[in-house]
Amino acid sequence: MPRYWHVVSLLLPAAAMAQQPGSAGATRPKLEVLKSLPEAQLFPLMNLVATSLGVHCDYCHVQATPDLARTPSNAGGWVWDRDDKQPKRRAREMMKMVVGINTSVFGGEAKVTCYTCHRGSTQPSRLPLLPPPAPGTARTPAPTPLPTADRVWAAYVAAVGGGDASARAAAMNIRGWDERPEGRYGKVEITVAGSDRYRITLTTPDATTNQGLDGDVAWVGTGDRVQRLSSPADIARMRRIAMRYQPVKEQPRDLRVVGIERLDDHDAYVLQGRIDSLTTQRSYFDVVTGLLRREITTTETLLLPLEEQVDYDDYRDVAGIQMPYRVRTSDGAPYSTTTRIFTDIRRNVPTADTLFRPPSPR
Ligand code: HEC
Ligand code: HEC
Repeated sequence: MPRYWHVVSLLLPAAAMAQQPGSAGATRPKLEVLKSLPEAQLFPLMNLVATSLGVHCDYCHVQATPDLARTPSNAGGWVWDRDDKQPKRRAREMMKMVVGINTSVFGGEAKVTCYTCHRGSTQPSRLPLLPPPAPGTARTPAPTPLPTADRVWAAYVAAVGGGDASARAAAMNIRGWDERPEGRYGKVEITVAGSDRYRITLTTPDATTNQGLDGDVAWVGTGDRVQRLSSPADIARMRRIAMRYQPVKEQPRDLRVVGIERLDDHDAYVLQGRIDSLTTQRSYFDVVTGLLRREITTTETLLLPLEEQVDYDDYRDVAGIQMPYRVRTSDGAPYSTTTRIFTDIRRNVPTADTLFRPPSPR
């Protein structure tokens, strides 16, 4: 099961991974807290639980028959529904507590998470470290004055050079390398056109996988198998993935500036906006260059919010538009962090409409 999951997850949107759409509880009778969680969210959530405590799956779950000839992440042999281990039973009580606190004290919003207390450890600290910080001034410092969201956004669009609409509509072709943990690598080719057409081909030593988006048709193909994604959530997710390669992003709703943060050695304005009722996005714009450096998308679930981060780096000019030549994506799973390093980006490439459509079965 986990091996299958990892292989499929190379390219498939998380929400498309469930074999049948539906809740985890439909096929997993032993669940008590996570029954109504969509199956597609179960593994991302478990990754987050493990990271929040600084442990791996085996801290709570039984691995009965691992295949030691495989890489650590693919050894398999898990019996996820067994409750033999005390930490798993304890974790279930903790999940009930977290849902309880959020329901009774925070109006149902997932304000308190495993990480709130655990901070990457199985033993949360009860007290701050001694000695306490040296006394400074007695006043709370005044907040730094911030520009408006409109100003930051306008500076961003100007910095990219994508002010005119034609710049966004023209097709762009992007080629390069795809690198993942445990020595996995592949070649990647991406074509984007307009705001809703996208095609990616990932070629690894094991397989070639294609994904496409053409308006509201989204699909994934491996070898001869082509799967159309039908749920609105899957299509929305594919649209967001495609958006990573657009020169100018779509502006989220209710955008506001929430602060300044340091990313590596640059300051960035942090803007927060809403994508839909369950999803918010934080975007980090370089204070000096105006360019987008990071996006963090947060999706609420019944237990913990799931996050996905995209970092954009190494911006270079492509026929008048600034494009990032390095894009790194990560979610809660250490195994799935992906770095794409581009070697060739071209604008205004002639592109056949059929490229974006699902290949017809032979
Ligand atoms: C801190 C303990 C803990 C860790 C670490 C943990 N889990 Fe879980 N997991 C649980 C608990 C508790 C449940 C049952 C939740 C419930 O009762 O609703 C569960 C349920 C599951 C299930 C569903 C089991 C069933 O009944 O069919 C799967 C699959 C799963 N976990 C996978 C993972 C994976 C993969 C990892 C590592 C990335 C992981 N878990 C890490 C505590 C943990
Ligand atoms: C309000 C703070 C708080 C939150 C939130 C919280 N925990 Fe805990 N957790 C604790 C404390 C405190 C302990 C240690 C208790 C003890 O020593 O008996 C603990 C212990 C545990 C242990 C046992 C660790 C061991 O020693 O093996 C597990 C497993 C665990 N928590 C899982 C979780 C999970 C999973 C979540 C999120 C669903 C969570 N906790 C959320 C406070 C919290």
